[in-house]
Amino acid sequence: MNTHQQGRQGVAGPEGAGPGSAGAGVVVMGLQWGDEGKGKIVDLLADRFDAVARYNGGANAGHTVTVGGERFALHLIPSGILRPGKLAVIGSGVVIDPEWLLKELGGLRSRGVDVSGLRISGAAHVVLPWHQDEDRLREGWLRAAGVEAIGTTGRGIGPAYADKALRGTAVRVGDLLRPELLAQKLARTSALKGAVLSALSGQAGSVGYDEQELHRRAVGWGRELEPSVCDTGELLRGMLGGGGRVLFEGANATLLDVDHGTYPFVTSSTTIAAGAAVGAGVPMSALRSVVGVMKAYSTRVGGGVMLTELEGSDAERAVAHGIRQRGREYGTTTGRPRRVGWLDLAAVRYSAALSGVTSLAVMLLDVLEPLERLRVCVGYRRGGGPAVGFVPDAADLGGLEPEYREIGGLGGSVGGARRLADLPAGARAYLDMIQEQVGVRIGAVSVGPERTQTIELW
Ligand code: IMP
Repeated sequence: MNTHQQGRQGVAGPEGAGPGSAGAGVVVMGLQWGDEGKGKIVDLLADRFDAVARYNGGANAGHTVTVGGERFALHLIPSGILRPGKLAVIGSGVVIDPEWLLKELGGLRSRGVDVSGLRISGAAHVVLPWHQDEDRLREGWLRAAGVEAIGTTGRGIGPAYADKALRGTAVRVGDLLRPELLAQKLARTSALKGAVLSALSGQAGSVGYDEQELHRRAVGWGRELEPSVCDTGELLRGMLGGGGRVLFEGANATLLDVDHGTYPFVTSSTTIAAGAAVGAGVPMSALRSVVGVMKAYSTRVGGGVMLTELEGSDAERAVAHGIRQRGREYGTTTGRPRRVGWLDLAAVRYSAALSGVTSLAVMLLDVLEPLERLRVCVGYRRGGGPAVGFVPDAADLGGLEPEYREIGGLGGSVGGARRLADLPAGARAYLDMIQEQVGVRIGAVSVGPERTQTIELW
């Protein structure tokens, strides 16, 4: 459908379930390398739902939401917390750094946000100090081996998920409420972690943990979090079964998915829409529609291939710099400047297909305003051969050349637009090309950071 004709219709889901229809689960997830603006879309839709649930990732995620000129940066707590009266659920698929979570809760409380709607799965895994140490040491080990490091956020995400899979050395949120069992777990694990991480650091005896001190802290975390801990899967299934509406908030993004992203430069969880069923404990049939969030250009933090990166010439670097400044493209979690590139629609097409995306949310369109010419990648070729699609492997993908379509700029200012008809012709042509190339309807266009700066089409 052409954006010129598009009106206000329900988002076309498999059962026609639009965001907010009764008894429906809707997933909001990213189609690029993260930081697409998912927080804004979740915040915008949250008042149409009874609960917002996180299903993957941890404090590596960073969602920024601007409400009434006030900017909130959230890492572990679902953005839905900013909507009074809604439940904000952290599912079992999330890895939780309790200190980080308590800091975030304290920060929200001090700004007058009601956090009583928070619910935390007892089956979510806990990120402990040795996970962060291992994250850092493993990155150093890769660098010392002369290869590109993953460029992790350093939040201990990978090692925490590894322990979850290993089982014997893992601690779950529920364990924080069982001091005796916790003491046994920490005693056996801290000795092993000290030995293994000392070996990884290359210096015998250099890493050690005071298990009693850690136990004291961990029991304190348990005490503070206990009122929010429950079986969140049961809670969500009950809500959905009773006709309630749940919004599933994906963290990180498709191209960082551990199975389907640009491996090994990915995170350690399932970021795609299917992950919502696993990481929140709800049936697949509850996921009625999927909103795929994408930026009007590409960004990436950390290592790994990004075929459309603007880095070749001074002119390209100047364009990247302009986009970085206007889009505030610095990591919410680490403050690192994000790598910037042209919109890669071949990658977005792949991501949308993988999650069965039913509508697109195109974000940060206003950032492209000053550019008179835009380039968009519509496919790839290998050595001038036939067109090929996205490949979820960093080494293979790195061997492809992007195929660009060059078009004019947006043709004017877009920040004040509230309907498609308010947009200049160049901006509408850009959106038409996105829809046509991805093959999915656009449900929302964001033209600025405020809630009100959104054109809603679903
Ligand atoms: P980790 O999740 O900290 O292990 O980092 C693995 C990779 O995913 C790194 O390239 C990170 O920069 C990237 N990453 C993880 N979470 C996010 C996110 O929410 N936004 C953008 N990049 C992320």
